[in-house]
Amino acid sequence: MFKNNCLKFILLSLSFICLNVSAQKDIDTKVQKLLKKMTLEEKIGQMVQLNGFWDFTGPAPKDGDGAKWKYDALKSGKVGSVLNVRGVKNVRQLQEMVVNESRLGIPLIFGFDVIHGHKTVFPIPLAESASWDLDAMENAARIAAIEASAEGLNWTFAPMVDISRDARWGRVMEGAGEDPYLASEVAKARVKGFQGKDLSDDNTLAACAKHFVGYGFAESGKDYNAVDVGTSTLYNVLLPPFQACIDANVRTFMNAFNTLNGIPATGDDFLQRDILKGKWNFDGFVVSDWGSISEMQAHGFAKDLKDAGIIAANAGCDMDMESYAYVGHLKEAVEEGTVAEALIDDAAARILKVKFELGLFDDPYKYCDTKKEKELLYHPDHKKAALDMAKKSIVLLKNEGNLLPLDKKQKNIAIIGALADEDNSPLGNWRLGTDNNTAVSFLEGFKKYTDNYSYEKGVDIFLKAEDFLHEVEVNNTDKSGIDAAVALAKKSEVVIMVLGEHGYQSGEGRSRANLDLPGLQKKMLKEVYKVNKNIILVLMNGRPLTIDWEAENIPAILETWQLGTESGNAIAETLFGDNIPGGKLTMTFPRTEGQVPIYYNYLNTGRPGPIDLVFWSHYTDETNAPLYPFGYGLSYTDFAYDNMKVVNNGNNIQVSVNVKNTGNYDGSEVVQLYIRDKVASVSRPVKELKGFEKIFLKKGENKTVNFTLTEKELGFYNNRGDFVVEPGDFDVMVGTSSLEGLSDSFEWK
Ligand code: NOJ
Repeated sequence: MFKNNCLKFILLSLSFICLNVSAQKDIDTKVQKLLKKMTLEEKIGQMVQLNGFWDFTGPAPKDGDGAKWKYDALKSGKVGSVLNVRGVKNVRQLQEMVVNESRLGIPLIFGFDVIHGHKTVFPIPLAESASWDLDAMENAARIAAIEASAEGLNWTFAPMVDISRDARWGRVMEGAGEDPYLASEVAKARVKGFQGKDLSDDNTLAACAKHFVGYGFAESGKDYNAVDVGTSTLYNVLLPPFQACIDANVRTFMNAFNTLNGIPATGDDFLQRDILKGKWNFDGFVVSDWGSISEMQAHGFAKDLKDAGIIAANAGCDMDMESYAYVGHLKEAVEEGTVAEALIDDAAARILKVKFELGLFDDPYKYCDTKKEKELLYHPDHKKAALDMAKKSIVLLKNEGNLLPLDKKQKNIAIIGALADEDNSPLGNWRLGTDNNTAVSFLEGFKKYTDNYSYEKGVDIFLKAEDFLHEVEVNNTDKSGIDAAVALAKKSEVVIMVLGEHGYQSGEGRSRANLDLPGLQKKMLKEVYKVNKNIILVLMNGRPLTIDWEAENIPAILETWQLGTESGNAIAETLFGDNIPGGKLTMTFPRTEGQVPIYYNYLNTGRPGPIDLVFWSHYTDETNAPLYPFGYGLSYTDFAYDNMKVVNNGNNIQVSVNVKNTGNYDGSEVVQLYIRDKVASVSRPVKELKGFEKIFLKKGENKTVNFTLTEKELGFYNNRGDFVVEPGDFDVMVGTSSLEGLSDSFEWK
């Protein structure tokens, strides 16, 4: 019976692979046939992406929006894609124009930043990653794709899989944190979610792994800044999440604004040709970032726009987003021989291939169904999923004296902080697809549980927090509001302070040099603390913050990020114990900006110390330890680890551990496995995550969790970029965070 089933499975898988291969061949044949009909100008046209006529997501587009020449370009087949056009009516209008009026009627592909939800907004990606729940993250991306495709879109510029160790960088909110292993798993889940089971279905989006590569390592955390990394970091830290996207069959890549070791990523043929399209055999296409081809002039890498276009095309950048270098200059470059026509053919073929895969040639309007658009946007099931994801993303940082969860009959609660009344900020920064003010605010969620509270806004945090395009103005001067907050706190039994950053304070172009609570919030918190120490701090923020004083003094701290549409409901359920927090940080929280970049998987120095003299690697005015480490997060219940076993099978290592819920609530735990390769031909980190499992245990219940370590987990990339597995001794640790756990060791032969 078992054998029969096995055979059936193998035959089914084989026939699936054969079908896939033949479908791919079929598409390749169609692409080649179409290419033969195309003029050079039309092929270059496929490589051009223009910003649409409504929103924009970078410096103002050329000639503003709606310029006549854009329509002419579209009608004459000089454009292959547009971004920032959405809504069935708008998409259909442009698609019809191109399909009916251009010579070959090649449909456009419509790109948009569908980052964490579309109409229904999910938590910011950094928050989602704190759930460590891959299925939930895949589902979140699936739903984002369902809604975005119902609005006519078929390509998302996500997932962002940049690793970052520097919370000053505003875009840490868009990634999965600091760890390459976890980020790779998350990347795969998100790609699968966006692309669905079959890209030709009418509810899928082609995904885009971005920003290739190094963007998250911007020097001093300042967006767009130069990146300098050595080979080991490039191969072992930055590249793996991108490679994971390839494993998940991601159809597009976006290159990056930054220079990597002196070469703009957009013009780097080593990255795009040698690694991505060579070594990794990527057969989708690469789009530039917004204007990044043109920006190679400012980098001092191209002498003019034409030169920039030539460099980018030769380096393997297939599509030009908003630089106008390809539309303006590529034809001339081919004619004079500075770009080979074969490269144009290759780029156009890649783009056409993805269009075929999406089924756009079968039906260019397959994403244009107004009935579906009405039915699916903000669908109640999507809200349910967003609530589930939001609850899983919350991280409990501190809970002294079990202040949380709150008793549902608790009287006399003070709620303080402008963010508590915000229904816009929880949507985060990347939420162009949704409508403003559509989040459930903290207060709205809280009200559903109890009337026993009073609210004071306290100090204004923001003078202006307008939109995606402009700076947030923080209130650093006007202290009015503090007195009222203090007065309320004085007469209350428990105080909930809702503090943090506005959703528009993280994201692109939003680096911060200070990582503390913006404006006068800390001052207000300290004043309130003087009259009432029974404080629950609910943080809303898009990055790790330096909350050293808060961590020392405030008894309970709940990290709620920007949780999206269902924010207030998720937080209220958590405060009142209907949701037991189980999230774990995926980025280290520093104590002070001076510790940044700070991350758990660092290389040991030759002088790790501590020793009695000064000659060891440390600060004289701050400890080396982070405030909260990677993988950290508490629960209302407790988990005990015991009985760790390590069995060396020669070709793999089996590690098992028993985890018991010893507390008073049912709850989930993320069991994490870390290794240390003790001696290698390249220094290896003091710890590296190599496995995790999220388990749910009823109170009193226990479970054995098993991990298998193989060459894949034990090897690393050497400084030639080769993956090697070296024999030797390893430490292994299994536990509740990167800091705490049971450990053992083994020898790999
Ligand atoms: C610039 C951002 O870096 C990129 O991530 C985004 O997809 C594009 N703008 C398009 O909006």
